Amino acid sequence: MAQQLDAKGRIALITGANKGIGFEIARGLAEKGATVLIGARRPQAGEEAAQALRQEGWAAVPVTIDIVDEASVAAAAEQIAEQFGKLDILVNNAGISIERGKEPSESDVALMRETYETNVFGVVAVTNAMLPLLRKSDAGRIVNLSSGLGSFALRSGPDAPLSHMRSLAYNSSKTALNALTANYANEFEGTPIKINSANPGLCATDLTFGNGRPASEGAVAAVELALAGADGPNGGFFGDQGKVPW
Ligand SMILES: NC(=O)c1ccc[n+]([C@@H]2O[C@H](COP(=O)([O-])OP(=O)(O)OC[C@H]3O[C@@H](n4cnc5c(N)ncnc54)[C@H](OP(=O)(O)O)[C@@H]3O)[C@@H](O)[C@H]2O)c1
Repeated sequence: MAQQLDAKGRIALITGANKGIGFEIARGLAEKGATVLIGARRPQAGEEAAQALRQEGWAAVPVTIDIVDEASVAAAAEQIAEQFGKLDILVNNAGISIERGKEPSESDVALMRETYETNVFGVVAVTNAMLPLLRKSDAGRIVNLSSGLGSFALRSGPDAPLSHMRSLAYNSSKTALNALTANYANEFEGTPIKINSANPGLCATDLTFGNGRPASEGAVAAVELALAGADGPNGGFFGDQGKVPW
């Protein structure tokens, strides 16, 4: 991985940071000295998570943001502009998995739309709303929380390691998210902003009903990408073991 930026003085917004991997990404960045903005759609959950980090001695501020609600996203951007005047790091972590175990032929289009609203369109809404603030940073970083399930290489063909994991809605939403990363990266080329996808691997959170490794381990790649130096990647897909195939 690239050289790491000094986190001190950096302002980081993590969506869906009230629990799970998002909370651990916030903790990881806060431990390194960043001021973390705990994005949460439920204000009380955001306040509780921020308070938990403050009790550990870190700088954490709650920001109410429901990524599928344009007014909420705009209000969050306004709050950050007023309180901090810039944003250095945006971690698009909030995500849902609401359709499981079904074959694509049984997929429910309504669930698919709902999944894309959060995992894809919500990410575009938040990214575009925060870009004016990220452009005020000397090194804006965007990290999209993707999944191995969004990888063509890991899912295509009967022998692919993740081909048995069914959910057309979730899996394809993460493939679309990776496409967002690649497309934004082209726009950011030659600017101080970098965007990458992070693969946390299977982590024990509410999303997985507690199956997998600790969320703190899943947070490692996202924290590194959020602090990647000027020599760091733009438009890549990484886990804590390095590059993930598209
Ligand atoms: N866990 C894994 O094994 C795994 C593997 C690969 C990728 N990921 C990805 O990692 C990210 C975090 O997952 P997780 O496992 O930590 O899930 P989680 O424990 O279910 O947490 C998801 C977070 O997203 C928030 N959220 C959902 N919809 C939102 C919205 N419309 N606006 C704002 N926040 C919203 C949730 O808020 P509430 O508390 O209000 O519901 C919660 O804070 C997701 O993008 C997921 O797809 C997870």
